[in-house]
Amino acid sequence: MNEPLDVSETRAAYDSVATSYGEMLRGLMEEKPYDRAMLSAFAGQVLAAGNPVVLDAGCGTGRIAGHLATLGLEVSGVDLSPGMVEVARAEHPGLAFSVGSLEDLNLEAGSWGGIVAWYSLIHTPPERLGSVFASLAGGLAPGGFLLLAFQAGSGRRHIQHAYGHEISMHAYLLDPDTVEVQLEAAGLEVEARLLRAPDADERTPQAYLMARKSNSPAATK
Ligand SMILES: C[S@@+](CC[C@H](N)C(=O)[O-])C[C@H]1O[C@@H](n2cnc3c(N)ncnc32)[C@H](O)[C@@H]1O
Repeated sequence: MNEPLDVSETRAAYDSVATSYGEMLRGLMEEKPYDRAMLSAFAGQVLAAGNPVVLDAGCGTGRIAGHLATLGLEVSGVDLSPGMVEVARAEHPGLAFSVGSLEDLNLEAGSWGGIVAWYSLIHTPPERLGSVFASLAGGLAPGGFLLLAFQAGSGRRHIQHAYGHEISMHAYLLDPDTVEVQLEAAGLEVEARLLRAPDADERTPQAYLMARKSNSPAATK
């Protein structure tokens, strides 16, 4: 498969940090009340809409999938990095995880009650996000929800040290207004947005956007 170099770079980086990522972020949810609030709102909305089947897109070691499962959702995960998926399977043996790229997912149309992309689109060049959002929107059931989390800002960072390892990959800070426009172009309406100040372990404000696909299939792209 021909894939952009940045995708190979991201996969290699996460493969090399997977074990320490799992260890270092275990329990982090306890320290992030706004993360829990957005995930709880997402779970509540998805359950109320009647289709509890949810994809954790870019699931990493499965910490978000595991949390959503405790909130009553039927979650599975997909991630670019086989190393991260291996840790996810070990840490959450009751959930299904697979290896795949968000840029090449072939989701069954209209099948998912919700999709979460939690800090997993931060390595994708912004000019490629529109087609990812279109693909995720196509996979959502009518009335389904997409929840995104990402670092707010602008520009690209070269990451050379992370989770106790020397690596090389790039990450993008994203402008919530621009992301909202891209989501709307994909046929999703942003229902809720949170921008919070950085915690002590963060360098930038953190953004959360929850978008919904129309209940009327004819009205969506
Ligand atoms: C910062 S981690 C977040 C992992 C998890 N969502 C969490 O919050 O712990 C970013 C994850 O996104 C995955 N990722 C990056 N680009 C991806 C892509 N194109 N397709 C699927 N996963 C991707 C990486 O492999 C990595 O596991």
